[in-house]
This record gives sequence, structure tokens and C-alpha cells, in this order.
Amino acid sequence: MYTHEDYKDTLTSEPVASTLKRLHKQAEEADKPLQQEYSKLRKLYKEAKEKEANKSLEQEYSSIDVIADLLKEERKNYKEMYQNKFASHYLSVTPEFGDFLYMCARTANAKQIVEFGTSFGISSIYLAAALRDNGGGELISTEIEESKALQARKNIAAAGLSDLVDIRIGDALETLSTGFKGKIDLALLDGAFSLYLPVLKLLEPHFRMGTVLISENALVAEYLKHIRNPANGYHSKKILVGEGNDNEKGNELSIVTWNKMSLENRLDKTSASISDAQSVPAMVKSSSIFLAGQIYLTKNQALSRERIVRRPQHKQNGLAVI
Ligand SMILES: C[S@@+](CC[C@H](N)C(=O)[O-])C[C@H]1O[C@@H](n2cnc3c(N)ncnc32)[C@H](O)[C@@H]1O
Repeated sequence: MYTHEDYKDTLTSEPVASTLKRLHKQAEEADKPLQQEYSKLRKLYKEAKEKEANKSLEQEYSSIDVIADLLKEERKNYKEMYQNKFASHYLSVTPEFGDFLYMCARTANAKQIVEFGTSFGISSIYLAAALRDNGGGELISTEIEESKALQARKNIAAAGLSDLVDIRIGDALETLSTGFKGKIDLALLDGAFSLYLPVLKLLEPHFRMGTVLISENALVAEYLKHIRNPANGYHSKKILVGEGNDNEKGNELSIVTWNKMSLENRLDKTSASISDAQSVPAMVKSSSIFLAGQIYLTKNQALSRERIVRRPQHKQNGLAVI
């Protein structure tokens, strides 16, 4: 008879468990000189910072100065930085953060996951393990450095998860601009910091209410302002998971509370009827596009498309988002 003692999740079973153990060890060795260099720099910055009073949003975190410097360099030429300087570095999530990713994907019962920044595939393995345990799905992950992406494919194969992962080789600004089959249940941003906002803009039309967004090192002020503004459809918080590790500063967990882009797409499909404001209430009543439980009519009012999209949560407008 099958009992709960027989059950093992994919993450803690073979071949995933030993593959991750091996990769984390390799990552530690490969990134050791880089980590040592950064911890020296951090010490120097810390001393300098104690004397300095001015704190901007980008200086909210204790190791921000090193990251701010990286950011400056990245903004000059992110391709050069990631395809040369960091081409052999893992820059991967810690086991603790990976475990957190697995748990988020299980909690969201995610079937469609997108990852910006594959590197050697460590975080991809945590996410794909969750897909396996959720009953299947697809992880689309993207990596600009071809040699890393090819090795990531091998690592994911060693973990027995290749059937769940599509690694797109190239710049996320191109590879994530198209080719999504359904709504994204969970997205992980862990690539070039300066591209978080443009990459997010590519993904937003595919979000749904409740989509989970995890941003590693979300340290760019414009990005934080965007996801911390409820009017943009997010509820967002800094999280402390993995904070003990220098790689894991400034992580952010966000959920999509409503989605303007997704509403616009849906409304675009019905633009003929919507443009005739008088027909909106009748159309809403009869149309299956509104049966997803996301929009409902609160008053029998005629509405312009603009008002629906701009103030979807405002019940006075006649339509509300639930
Ligand atoms: C922090 S590492 C990702 C670590 C990985 N998520 C893990 O935990 O194993 C960031 C990766 O993003 C890649 N990257 C940076 N900019 C990119 C871009 N524009 N498009 C695709 N990948 C990019 C880098 O080459 C690098 O391998």
C-alpha cells in the first residue's frame, strides 16, 4: 500500500538532489575569487559609508555600493560584462534561496514559469523540480552567454528535467519578446539589473492576477518604484531570504494584484463592441471574455474603454476587478 512515507518530492530525490549538490559546490569554487574581491570592496565601502549621511533608494541595502558600481558598468555595456567578465561565473542562487523558489512555485501551483538569467541552470533546476511536482508545465529561461546556456542544458539534463525547460539563448530583450503559450504563473528576474524594468514590461501582458514575481537584487530605483506602486498592479516587499549571503541582497517578492496590460489585451479583442459605449453593459452580460472572474459589472452603466482600463478597481465606474 502507498503511504505518505513513500512520497518524495523531486527536489530532494535523485537525480536532482545530487546534481544540485555538485553544482553548488562547483559554483562556490568558480566564484570564490570574485566573492573575495567583492568582500574586500564591501569592507572599504562600509567604512566610507559610515561617514556619509545621504541615503537614496539605491543605497537602502548594506552592500549596495558594490552593486551600484556593477550597475554603472552594466549600464555602459551589459553584453560585454556578462559575455566576457562574468562568462565563467555562476552568480547563482544559494541553496536556501533555491528552496524558496521551489516553495513559491509549488504554492502558486505554477505551470508556466519564466526566468531571466539562466547562468549554469541552478535556479532553473529548483523551478523545474517544482513544475514536475505540480504535474508538469514549462520553464522558459533565457541566457545571453551561449557557453553558459549550453552547459545549463547539460546540467538540467543531469537532473532529469530537460522535458520541462526551454532555454532561449540570446538577449532577454529579444528572447522574451514573444512565444508564450499561456499566462505566466511565476517569473524570476535574475539577469542584468539594469534590464529588470524593460524585461518586466515584456512579461506584463502575460501576467494574471496572482502571478508571483521574484526579483533577485532588485536594486534599481526606477524598477523598485514601478513594482512598489500599487497603481501599477503589484503588491511588493523586500524579502530577507538568503540575506546572510552577499549575493542575495535586495531581493523582492511581488504579486500581481491586477493587470492593466492583460485587461487591455482582453478589451482589444472586443474593441468593436467596446468602442460603442452604450453596448458595454449588454456585452459584458453576454460575453464569455468576462467570465474569468476578473471583471464584473456593478451598475448598469455605459463605460468608455479608457475608463475601464485606467480605473479597473474603481467600483463607481461601473466595472470592478475582483
Ligand atoms: C545572476 S546570474 C543568474 C544565476 C541563475 N539564475 C542561477 O541562480 O543559477 C545572471 C545571468 O544573467 C545573464 N544575463 C545578463 N544579461 C542578460 C540578458 N540581457 N539576456 C539574457 N541573459 C542575461 C548573465 O549572463 C548571467 O549568466
